[in-house]
Amino acid sequence: MRAVILVGGLGTRLRPLTNQLPKPLVPIAGEALMSRTLRRLQRQGVRHVILAVQYLAEQFLAAYGDGSAFGLNLQIVQEPEPLGTAGAVRYALAQTKLLDAGPILVLNGDELTDFDVAQLWQAHAQTAGVATIAVREVADTSAFGVVASDEQQRVYAFQEKPAPGTALANTINSGAYVFAPAALAQIPVQGFAMLERDLFPSLLAAQAPIYAYQHSAYSQDIGTLAGYLAANEAVLMGRLPQEPVHGIQYAAGVWAAADAQISPSAQLIAPIMLGSGCVVGENARLERVVAWERVTIEAAASLTNVALASDVLIAHHATVEGLALG
Ligand code: GTP
Repeated sequence: MRAVILVGGLGTRLRPLTNQLPKPLVPIAGEALMSRTLRRLQRQGVRHVILAVQYLAEQFLAAYGDGSAFGLNLQIVQEPEPLGTAGAVRYALAQTKLLDAGPILVLNGDELTDFDVAQLWQAHAQTAGVATIAVREVADTSAFGVVASDEQQRVYAFQEKPAPGTALANTINSGAYVFAPAALAQIPVQGFAMLERDLFPSLLAAQAPIYAYQHSAYSQDIGTLAGYLAANEAVLMGRLPQEPVHGIQYAAGVWAAADAQISPSAQLIAPIMLGSGCVVGENARLERVVAWERVTIEAAASLTNVALASDVLIAHHATVEGLALG
């Protein structure tokens, strides 16, 4: 299997965590999401990965090089300007001369999941579709892209963030696709184009067969603070057995790097991840906190639902709730 991973977005909703790191390189429980994704894809049988990079592009080359550390053949393609999720796929495949090389797996780079892409690949091979979209059920579709399909799983409609009560289905796009060359040919050769807004509607209008593949694997978009904390929580609480945590576990879901200094009087309420060089002062209270490296939380500070980028200092007695700080 060969995959294009979309990693070129600005990650605006996760700022300031994404001011200096592209979103796919943000650490989840002490390790970059991208490293977790590459390991999973290798485990599932992917051998060739193309990273479609743009924002802070050079960091991907520095971190992953040719992919050999992950047992992958990795190529990195940088767009001259952001081309959108569809434009980026077409550009990356044109640059690597793979536009006509058979089906291609395409993945969003900001999803923590244990979804098995081999199942999606096989499902695609069993249909005559030009595209197969991984979908999953959610109770509330209003924040997502809905994919509505018939009993044969053929897709007949897309809805972006439908108002409550107006959704055509309870299945949403979960950020993994297989495209045949015939679908890729519908993406304009030049300019900005999005998969959801441009490619899928144009395929539907042309009556090209698109299929949905429904799965129930864990899947969490890390693109907002709530999503980022939820993804960390899943790994820290051991809900994804294949995903390691890098640190010592002090209590269920409370993790810290071996060199973190934590006052015995500090109160740590799971999930907690404190990276290398973090310091937590006396009587500080932390609940659902992810701190990267060298973060100092002074005495009696109180933090709830907080993500802290490296080198942040929280002053004594400060109260912080529901914020990402950098
Ligand atoms: P926000 O700015 O917060 O909306 O995030 P984003 O644009 O970084 O991510 P979004 O969730 O909208 O996009 C889904 C995936 O596509 C992410 O992994 C992005 O990195 C990637 N992506 C979005 N736009 C582009 C683009 O123009 N080029 C490339 N190469 N990747 C993109």
